[in-house]
Amino acid sequence: ARQFFVGGNFKMNGTQKDLKAIVENLNNAQLDSNAEVVIAPPALYLDFVKQNLNKSTVEVAAQNVFNKPNGAFTGEISASQLQDLGIKWTILGHSERRNELGESDEFVASKTKYALDNGISVIWCCGESKDTRQAGETIKFVENQLAALAKQISESDWKNVVVAYEPIWAIGTGLVATKEQAQEVHAAIRSWLKQNVSDKVAQETRILYGGSVNAKNCKDLAKEEDIDGFLVGGASLKPEFVEIINSKQ
Ligand code: 13P
Repeated sequence: ARQFFVGGNFKMNGTQKDLKAIVENLNNAQLDSNAEVVIAPPALYLDFVKQNLNKSTVEVAAQNVFNKPNGAFTGEISASQLQDLGIKWTILGHSERRNELGESDEFVASKTKYALDNGISVIWCCGESKDTRQAGETIKFVENQLAALAKQISESDWKNVVVAYEPIWAIGTGLVATKEQAQEVHAAIRSWLKQNVSDKVAQETRILYGGSVNAKNCKDLAKEEDIDGFLVGGASLKPEFVEIINSKQ
């Protein structure tokens, strides 16, 4: 069985004071010991969050990492710097970076490959816009994103990849995908992996849903066969994140 996984993407939010309160809330909470939890603060606070966290089931992730070793790359952070801080995860390919910063499918795939080759596990994000969904092209669009990734990573790389399906129209809008909408795309992702990578990768890869997940809607979504957890934005900054972590209990 796939271990339930909950990521918290803090995005560009939080001061030391805020982050300390968020971490203390997690430290003091009763968290489902079967759930793997990864929180992603802004890069500036990775070490601060790591130092303050004392829960063995909670790891810290970066929100981005570059595809080259250390060097003249102003503003970027390297996989070896994450290693230096004991950070074992990164998010890559979030729609905010794809759209606001122009990251292409190929660039995201190359960063994913570089991170994996350098010992960093990846929460790799995909998902369609409202226009793409209205045009009935959601699955085709997500399959193309997956194909760009599969082209650059090997079958054995997938064991360190968690896929996050995050429909753009659901992110930060309060408009959560229905469990049927999410399940349909998750099943399509799994079936694509089966046909294009391997049955083993399809069976073992965790597929998370992200987009307006909160304490109220998480339990129903978590019951769907192909929803193996969540990538949570806004609600990961709030005490209700604990209820989302515990949504399988
Ligand atoms: P919200 O949970 O705020 O909709 O954000 C989802 C997301 O983008 C997580 O990466």
